[in-house]
Amino acid sequence: MSDKLWGGRFDDKTNKDVENFTVSLKEDYRLLQADVYASKAHLHLLKKADLVTTKEEKLLDETLDQLLEEYRTGAFVLRPELEDVHMNIETYLIERLGDVGKKIHTGRSRNDQVVTAFKLALLAKNERLVQQLIELEETLISLAEEHIDVIIPGYTHLQKAQPILLAHYFQSYFEMFYRDLEKLLYFRNYLLELPLGAGALAGNPFQLDRFAAAEELGFAKPTHNSLDSVADRDYALDMLYATSLIMTHFSRLSEDFILWSTEEFGFITLSDAFTTGSSIMPQKKNPDVSELTRGKTGRVIGDLLGLFMIMKGLPMAYNRDLQEDKHGVFDACQTVEQVLKVNIGQLKTLKVNKDKIEQSLASGYLLSTDLADYLVKKGIPFREAHHIVGSIVKDTEKYHKSLKDLTYDELQTYSDVFKKDVMAFLNEEHSINARDSYGGTAKKTVKEQIKLAKKRLKEVQREG
Ligand code: ARG
Repeated sequence: MSDKLWGGRFDDKTNKDVENFTVSLKEDYRLLQADVYASKAHLHLLKKADLVTTKEEKLLDETLDQLLEEYRTGAFVLRPELEDVHMNIETYLIERLGDVGKKIHTGRSRNDQVVTAFKLALLAKNERLVQQLIELEETLISLAEEHIDVIIPGYTHLQKAQPILLAHYFQSYFEMFYRDLEKLLYFRNYLLELPLGAGALAGNPFQLDRFAAAEELGFAKPTHNSLDSVADRDYALDMLYATSLIMTHFSRLSEDFILWSTEEFGFITLSDAFTTGSSIMPQKKNPDVSELTRGKTGRVIGDLLGLFMIMKGLPMAYNRDLQEDKHGVFDACQTVEQVLKVNIGQLKTLKVNKDKIEQSLASGYLLSTDLADYLVKKGIPFREAHHIVGSIVKDTEKYHKSLKDLTYDELQTYSDVFKKDVMAFLNEEHSINARDSYGGTAKKTVKEQIKLAKKRLKEVQREG
């Protein structure tokens, strides 16, 4: 005879290897608290539908509280032979309450039970990530404000391009993470649809009030289709996509910081507390937080692709493959949570090396476009201006000089359009402040964007 809760039609016991193979407790123990809350909401529906008495409801309610308490103190030990957290909870009720405990699963399947608990857990993860992202955004805004006067070389193709404000750079990351925040908030809408009551796939025959359960558990509404309710994992994919995107943004930031903290760049110094040493080379101070962030990004994107692979061939409705959904999602959430924590710390403690940045600004012909723009303002077609400045750069490079070293007379030999006022164009401040188009790097524009960023963050905070 099988000793399982579902063992009625089985003569033999489950093979031990099969038990180990099918167990999902390693992942779903995380759903314990969520499942207790969902079980209580289900219980209250059973009472409303007269499927349990007031006394039975009270007993079950109290025993669920007791279970939670015992779990917190470590007295409640989960048993892997019961397969998952859900059957551990049900068994606990049955062992304590006998026949009354046997009533809790009325009108419920593990198929709707699992997804209800999963969604509740993901809602909590979503909320946590939103709070952490808000802290990150505040940190980026502070950095932008603190370094509003620092001009750095901007790059394209990792080649020096045009001067930009360091504040403008930090604000660019504010934008990326802001989009992540908006996505997380939007994805909540799907998490907030309650699958409980969908049963195994077809709904339940007990007039269980799914709207009341939604209200009790803080969901917006019940899901609309019982098949979709148990088969859907889009919300898990949403979470994996959102976390993959956050990681990708951090990975790019990491790449910059790894480069900027080299001796060759030297734009920033990372705090000792956020770097590590080498076991053999005494001089080393390595940017491991950034490197690991870049590395872990691969893993999180792998988690996203993993779930896609699980989902793509599943027939309607529930299939046991779906049990594999939790590993990647929890891995991704846990990774991003850690990544946010250490990267916020790293950002808060980094030092900006103005002298190294200034040295770097002196080379690389960053003001070439400004010189061409000068000619355009004097009526030369841009393509011709580009050509003239190109030959100035070519010659200047030959003598290892910078554009700033050129005299007015030298410039005149390339075009008599150059007038004395050209010298004003050949400095970084002028270059920056000329770019005052909406969203450009002029100091005035960046300050406006910082102000707007604070306002936008408040809006998100209200929703968050
Ligand atoms: N442990 C499983 C899970 O987490 C429960 C599956 C229940 N459904 C089923 N039809 N066996 O997904």
